[in-house]
Amino acid sequence: MAVNLSGHLTALQVMQDAPVIPVIVLNDVAHAVPMARALVAGGIRMLEVTLRTPQALACMEAIAKEVPGAVVGAGTVRCAADAAAAAKAGARFAVSPGYTKTVGQACRDYGLSLLPGVATGSEIMMVQEDGYTELKFFPAMQAGGSAMLKAWGGPFFDVKFCPTGGVTQQNARDFLSLPNVACVGGSWLVPADALAQGDWARIEQLAREASQLPR
Ligand code: 3PG
Repeated sequence: MAVNLSGHLTALQVMQDAPVIPVIVLNDVAHAVPMARALVAGGIRMLEVTLRTPQALACMEAIAKEVPGAVVGAGTVRCAADAAAAAKAGARFAVSPGYTKTVGQACRDYGLSLLPGVATGSEIMMVQEDGYTELKFFPAMQAGGSAMLKAWGGPFFDVKFCPTGGVTQQNARDFLSLPNVACVGGSWLVPADALAQGDWARIEQLAREASQLPR
């Protein structure tokens, strides 16, 4: 269900492009472009670069400029300044570990589609009040896993989730088989040791396996 990469992307399009959104932590700007190329070669185009390192924004900028086949998103967006900086660096979507109205408004102001993070029914109701129907379920394994998503499928029948946190190539199928799961998120596609070794072939292979997960 690959989408056209040009123009505004909705959160649903971001979620539906591939079965997995990689959660990426980069400490070295030199890793950004070859890593992004490896992911794209393996069939993964929506890349969540987390705002957890001082290099994250420069990495986003490099990928946005030099890897046209990728769409850069910002992860770990926790305040309005994060959203502003990410948009300036070329991010086109944002993922947050939780939700505040301030973050939601900033993402709208800067044209970023947002996947807000939720872990409870009240949080789902709160983000729904602000118009969100595509959500990150975080931390997925710790907060109830696929059983929680099955239970939410009743009252929150109109919501699609991207479970993230403890998801692996092995357990991703349990999540992806659920009707209310559009994709999963996870850091396993970009292991720290593969980055340190410049093992782009391994990252490409992990991406290929992830992109072939059934859903
Ligand atoms: C996240 O930031 O969304 C999660 O920390 C990713 O979780 P994982 O490392 O368990 O995949």
